[in-house]
Amino acid sequence: MSIQALSLSSLMTFFLTTSILTQPSTSAIESFIYGGCSQLKYTEGTPYESNVNSLLTSLVNSASFATSNKFKISVPGSAPTDVVYGLFQCRGDLRNSDCRDCVARSVSQLGNLCFDSTGGALQLEGCFVKYDNISFLGVEDKAVVLKKCGPSIGYDSEALTRRDAVMDYLAAAGQFFRVGGSGNVQGVAQCVQDLDLSECQDCLSEAIGRLKSECGSAAWGDMFLGKCYARYSERGVSSKSGSNDEIEKTLAILIGLIAGVAVLIVFLSIFSKLLESGK
Ligand SMILES: *[C@@H]1O[C@H](CO)[C@@H](O)[C@H](O)[C@H]1NC(C)=O
Repeated sequence: MSIQALSLSSLMTFFLTTSILTQPSTSAIESFIYGGCSQLKYTEGTPYESNVNSLLTSLVNSASFATSNKFKISVPGSAPTDVVYGLFQCRGDLRNSDCRDCVARSVSQLGNLCFDSTGGALQLEGCFVKYDNISFLGVEDKAVVLKKCGPSIGYDSEALTRRDAVMDYLAAAGQFFRVGGSGNVQGVAQCVQDLDLSECQDCLSEAIGRLKSECGSAAWGDMFLGKCYARYSERGVSSKSGSNDEIEKTLAILIGLIAGVAVLIVFLSIFSKLLESGK
């Protein structure tokens, strides 16, 4: 997970990725949060490739009328090892048309980012898409994929009380998608709906507990686990607001183990920090 562990080739991937991911015309819902690919590659022209293409198409089509869906794809003539599994999850408050646009963009970015990879995952602001040749459907995954804490606001007991109240409210809400606010603090939590509600609860308890303990007195915090996330922000201060993000836009990397496959996770972070810690 250390940035120092980056190899030159990983850095090259970064810059390629940046240029892919910072094309203009991304709406807020389609802003990139993180993405990663299996290091295993499949051979082009194989049934597995057909299955992946068919899966990705199914995800986009399905997103026109569902908030979440999962598929196991095996076109006729495929061997058992050619089966591909995949799902998408839109944020619970998106309209169908926005959900579809988000999943379509995510699938198109995955096509660039994870070209020929046996698996990949991508989280945009409004939706999550993942596919792999190992079944991960219905499997809880509390591994931390991305943690970002905003700048400290120092000791402000009122702000901390509000933050904790919002987090406690989210932890108790009992839904796959949860939003809450107190004063100028807003929070959102989302599970991937292939989990059942009790697994969702367990995943969100972990994410919310980590936000409270690891983001301390930060003005905002994002905690993305394998199958759920929780985030909070102060109005006007968040990871996605402000023009500073344009200047500071960038990338960091972590190596993750997802569903038993080594997956290279590449995500946007603060470029200046990357340069500093890369010295
Ligand atoms: C997934 O794909 C890789 C690379 O083609 C292969 O080595 C592995 O056996 C596959 N796993 C399954 C469960 O099919």
